[in-house]
Amino acid sequence: MIVLGIESSCDETAASIVSDGTNILSSIVASQIDVHHKYGGVVPELASRMHIEAIVTVVDQAIKKANIKVENIDAVAATRGPGLIGALLVGFTFAKSFAFARHLPFAGVNHLEAHIYSLFLMDKKPAFPFIALVVSGGHTNIYYVTSCDNFELLGQTRDDAAGEAFDKVAKMLNLGYPGGPIIEKLAKTKDPGVISFPRTMLDKGSLDFSFSGLKSSVARYIHDNHITSDDDKAQVAASFQEAVIDVLSQKLINAASCKKCSSIGISGGVSANKTLVNKLTEKANSKGINIFAPPLELCGDNAAMIAARGYTMIQQGTLCRLDHDVFSRTKID
Ligand code: KG4
Ligand code: ZN
Repeated sequence: MIVLGIESSCDETAASIVSDGTNILSSIVASQIDVHHKYGGVVPELASRMHIEAIVTVVDQAIKKANIKVENIDAVAATRGPGLIGALLVGFTFAKSFAFARHLPFAGVNHLEAHIYSLFLMDKKPAFPFIALVVSGGHTNIYYVTSCDNFELLGQTRDDAAGEAFDKVAKMLNLGYPGGPIIEKLAKTKDPGVISFPRTMLDKGSLDFSFSGLKSSVARYIHDNHITSDDDKAQVAASFQEAVIDVLSQKLINAASCKKCSSIGISGGVSANKTLVNKLTEKANSKGINIFAPPLELCGDNAAMIAARGYTMIQQGTLCRLDHDVFSRTKID
């Protein structure tokens, strides 16, 4: 089955052709980062307009790159939510119209489930049951995944998402947007143990997160110590990143031992952070737990993961009707 996947929940317009749910024939991502960069974050109205400008070309490129004809597409899947409503509407409505015109089945995909599905697009996949972390600019969610459509939410952030904390700290340090990759690069030159930022673990046993205290502590440190030089900024970046990594790793390992899982999969934009993946792998391996993380091109928003999730929904007959709408917020249930 050849599925056309479409993603437009935030600031990437993406289309992908995936065969049989796992074989990526093409994956095109048109990023709007250059436009949003000067505002220090995503401007929703601009994002919607840019999706409209890009969607036809991106889908066209995905079909051409896959070396197939439009007639070869058997089904369509698009992100239904969560995300920015205006942005979601562009991809979802395009996909719905495409499917309607060509009499194809159409699945509306949950973006968070799709991030977990990016783990199934790798050669080495985690076996069920496993612990999954979706960690991005909007979410920091831990799931217990027992089958291809059973995701139990074990913990989530009570305030900022981890990626959002990276973006906000980068903004405080005048480093630009998105903050994650810039902070990771700067941090490489410094010993992370030099500044001791708080690790908010919340109540004992809780798998929820809170990053706002860490963010405030970094803001105070920058103010009190007049951090302006590149060298000092790199030190703050390294110690901040270490605090985030410690909390994410500890909670994931706690979740795995609580559910007696020997595999943890991480996905979402922040999973592109190699320092996180390496440190988590080291800690988890010492407890007999294996770590799975997608390759860089599947960490951030992409449409291959949407097609992969859509494939199982279509096989199970979980289809969208023409009157189905997008949604901005949800939890997987
Ligand atoms: O999944 P994604 O592309 O979009 C959302 O659904 O939010 O994630 C974007 C987030 C941003 O907050 C960005 O700063 C963060 O992922 N990110 C990183 C890295 N690369 C991207 N955070 C830490 N380290 C990175 N290398
Ligand atoms: Zn995402």
